[in-house]
Amino acid sequence: MITQEKIAEIRARASVVEVISDYVTLKKIGRNHVGLCPFHGEKTPSFTVNDEKGIFHCFSCKAGGSVFNFLMQYDHLSFPEAVECVGKRYGIAVERSGKNRDSGGEADRDALYRLNECAAANYHRVLFNDVLGRRALEYIKKRGIEESVARRFMLGFAPPYGSGLLEVAKKEKLSLKDALRLGLIGQREGNRFHEKFFDRLIFPIVNAGGKVIGFGGRVLEQGIPKYLNSSDTPLFRKGSTLYGLFQAKEAIRKRDRAVVVEGYLDVIALHQYGVDYAVATLGTALTVEHVRALSRYTKNVVAFFDGDDAGSRAAERSFQIFVEAGLLGRAAFLPNGEDPDTFIRARGKAAVEELLDRSVPLADYYFASLEHRYGKTLEGKSQIAGEISRVLQKVRNPFEVDLLIARAVDSLGIREEFFRKPLQSSVPPKPPLLANRRLSSSDLGNRANAAERSLISLILRYPRIAGYVFEEADVRQWVGSAWREIIDLIRTEWQEHENVDVGRIVQAFDSEVAAQIAALAIEGENVPETESQKMADDCIAHLRRKYLREQERNLRIAIRTAEEQKDENATRERILEWQEIVRKERQLERRKLAPKITAR
Ligand code: UTP
Ligand code: MN
Repeated sequence: MITQEKIAEIRARASVVEVISDYVTLKKIGRNHVGLCPFHGEKTPSFTVNDEKGIFHCFSCKAGGSVFNFLMQYDHLSFPEAVECVGKRYGIAVERSGKNRDSGGEADRDALYRLNECAAANYHRVLFNDVLGRRALEYIKKRGIEESVARRFMLGFAPPYGSGLLEVAKKEKLSLKDALRLGLIGQREGNRFHEKFFDRLIFPIVNAGGKVIGFGGRVLEQGIPKYLNSSDTPLFRKGSTLYGLFQAKEAIRKRDRAVVVEGYLDVIALHQYGVDYAVATLGTALTVEHVRALSRYTKNVVAFFDGDDAGSRAAERSFQIFVEAGLLGRAAFLPNGEDPDTFIRARGKAAVEELLDRSVPLADYYFASLEHRYGKTLEGKSQIAGEISRVLQKVRNPFEVDLLIARAVDSLGIREEFFRKPLQSSVPPKPPLLANRRLSSSDLGNRANAAERSLISLILRYPRIAGYVFEEADVRQWVGSAWREIIDLIRTEWQEHENVDVGRIVQAFDSEVAAQIAALAIEGENVPETESQKMADDCIAHLRRKYLREQERNLRIAIRTAEEQKDENATRERILEWQEIVRKERQLERRKLAPKITAR
């Protein structure tokens, strides 16, 4: 845990423009700095950074948030890592409280990263600069791997009798216990350490930020197992890591497309021939986490499958994985007996891209395989419909829901309601009125919340309005409960600084909501500041009216209940309360009309 004070200190010190300028070329235009968005490919700049508000926002892809959100998204850091990174840039040391060895404290993780880095560098040295590496160097030549690509992927060699890793660790004062944890070495009885990888070509596995988190090792020529991979460690989880993502991420963004394959050598060959937006799973099936990781760079992901039956089955399975990760996904199939490595070497880049261009939506594939499995009989169709219903429950994006339902209706001839009904009943019931929910992305997107959204947007754009709103009206009680937290945060900001640092506000929310709040603060109709007060008034009046209407409705119900229970006292009290509400409503109506009358 980093203390709140530390985070506040770093936020106060950091300029979001300075930090982002380390990654993106920005130009000052008016109050904002703009540049080409690093989160999607674009030719005209819609990426906007506002130093005053402490946020960034892309008008086009809607990425946005604080300086920390930027680093979290750009370098895939955790929040503490992002805070630390910004701290480091401004010379503010971050010491974490509650650090302990076993829970993987940050200093500890640094040491682990350093060890992996050392090991990778050492294997790499052996491959290129040691006689012991000669056999391996010949092997990669035979496989057609160019030296530049081998270097880009930091390939290495672990020779049969050790790479000298133990000596390097000693010299660099790195802990052998850590090396054990990372699976770099093992310990036999008699306490003798030995290297885990030997006589293997080494593929360092790096995370999206470029740090070495694990290793894969291939035997030269024959041998079992063909590949040996690091087991899961504090730094590495096989099921969520994509090989080559670090090398591919820029290309994925630029091309707005990614391709997923199975093998280390497939990625390497694809990159060498110019399909540099390729990544691979690590000997596991594709997971939701894999697809989510890719979806941060592009929404267009094509998975390469073998042309055989196993490939078809894998394609069918992966549809559900994609759907759960919020993407639709496409499948491309290789000719039987080929893998991307052999195929691109034989047929070249254009042939691969042609396969990718001809890729099939996974949904099509999924539907076809269901038909194949269950047949076109009545019973078959009903089983298919059941399966599709189950999958639909997992789809978040309403647009995708529509697409899939249309597709299902089309191919099964079943009424649309069959698929819609269960979805409606699975919508969670409205939360109780008083419970304070967290603001969610659907609150921000919901049309029913237009007044809340406009008001927040006005306050964030023109801090002066914040003062006006908080002095003038107790908006807090009139907004939906999910909005209270953000209102309170803004109010505190205003009271403490007479200004609203949006970057600090968005820190309280997850990255999706943070991006939406940043959008509210930067986007929006170009209201002249003079108009903004009037607009705020309108929003407040609207919220108040809505609140009163709801109160009035509740009281009418309460009155009826009291009458039914023949409770005269209660009935009278409720009626008085009701009259008071109605009086307020009328007053509000009059106020609403007043300016219009004077305006004529
Ligand atoms: P492949 O057997 O297709 O190997 O395994 P490959 O990558 O094409 O390598 P070459 O061309 O035969 O040299 C695909 C992936 O499955 C994982 C590895 O990640 C490999 O790249 N795998 C395979 C293992 O983890 N262990 C194994 O024993 C085999
Ligand atoms: Mn292969």
